[in-house]
Amino acid sequence: MAALTINNVVKNYGQGDVLKGINIAINSGEFLILVGPSGCGKSTLMNMIAGLETVTSGEILMGDDDVTNVEPKDRDIAMVFQSYALYPNMSVAENIAFGLEIRKVPKDERMKEVQRVAKLLQIEHLLDRKPGQLSGGQRQRVAMGRALARRPRLYLFDEPLSNLDAKLRVEMRTEIKKLHQNLGTTIVYVTHDQIEAMTLADRIAVMKDGIVQQFGTPQEIYDNPANQFVAGFMGSPAMNFIPCRLVGKGTEIMAEVQDAFGKVQYLPVPNPQALASMSGKDVILGLRPEKITEPLQHKEHEPLIRHLQLKVLVTEPTGADTMLVSELNGEQVDCRVGPRFGVKPGEITDLMLDMSLAVFFDPETGARIDQ
Ligand SMILES: Nc1ncnc2c1ncn2[C@@H]1O[C@H](COP(=O)(O)OP(=O)(O)OP(=O)(O)O)[C@@H](O)[C@H]1O
Ligand SMILES: [Mg+2]
Repeated sequence: MAALTINNVVKNYGQGDVLKGINIAINSGEFLILVGPSGCGKSTLMNMIAGLETVTSGEILMGDDDVTNVEPKDRDIAMVFQSYALYPNMSVAENIAFGLEIRKVPKDERMKEVQRVAKLLQIEHLLDRKPGQLSGGQRQRVAMGRALARRPRLYLFDEPLSNLDAKLRVEMRTEIKKLHQNLGTTIVYVTHDQIEAMTLADRIAVMKDGIVQQFGTPQEIYDNPANQFVAGFMGSPAMNFIPCRLVGKGTEIMAEVQDAFGKVQYLPVPNPQALASMSGKDVILGLRPEKITEPLQHKEHEPLIRHLQLKVLVTEPTGADTMLVSELNGEQVDCRVGPRFGVKPGEITDLMLDMSLAVFFDPETGARIDQ
């Protein structure tokens, strides 16, 4: 049964719709991530799920219960807000225990729970302090602790890690993932951070301008983006977008590009049937950096592998591998090679393109044209 169903939900604050008919359903125990650029409506949707914001039209169900007009306190939800508020006069321990206290959980159980979440969040040494004596990141962890000390039907987290430093952020990400695996709780989680989205989510809703652009598993979204916006938003470094022309070669349709010497080369496409009628059309070829690599012998005989001589503009070693910035059809393209691939800026080198997950977009609309 769906734990949470969002049916055609619209939000209008008075000047046009900021959410334009959202449809999302998740199962019990699922981890849903909402991602999208600032202002796309993520917090608005979270606040409507929590009942803190009215729904202009549409409905929100928890299980079979229509909660669209149910008071927040009756929804059995724990939420960590983007701008979290702690009770300033209570200690950290009291803040964490507060939700349990109003639910009349006995004191010794409350204390046990406070210890458990404090350990999880690495704030055991702060339990006696007041919020005013904490850093931003510590306050954020206390706000998390307050939510985690309960067992609601649904957790809502709106950018709960945004104030943490990089190391703690990664640690907390792992803790949240463990928590979800161990408890099987249903979670809706907002982030700007597409790595957080990929690593935590069972499913991701990518939003833009109040519309869900794509709703799917992290791998579906990564491998098979619905449009150029989603393709560019998910993945780091971002997918390369290479303008090129499709041409018919015999019975085949291929993407025409020029190598570093200006020589025309033809790249195969993974789904030629879908592009069959597009010979002569200018399109955008989307190819992820890890699909443009140093020549790898074990790949040589795969049908969608091709080699191109490309000019290297910049090399960026990261330790584990090296990012190359090269040039193809006048666009800068990112490539990922091994750390010992000896090539210097300015040189022309043989690179291998794996076209098996290449995708194609309409240059005007950004829509996928090869599905
Ligand atoms: N109370 C309000 N009254 C009027 N407009 C609002 C209100 N709250 C939000 N908005 C507008 O609705 C849109 C969506 O805002 P929302 O806070 O949901 O975005 P978001 O995706 O959470 O962004 P961010 O990533 O910056 O937190 C924005 O254009 C915002 O200005
Ligand atoms: Mg927000």
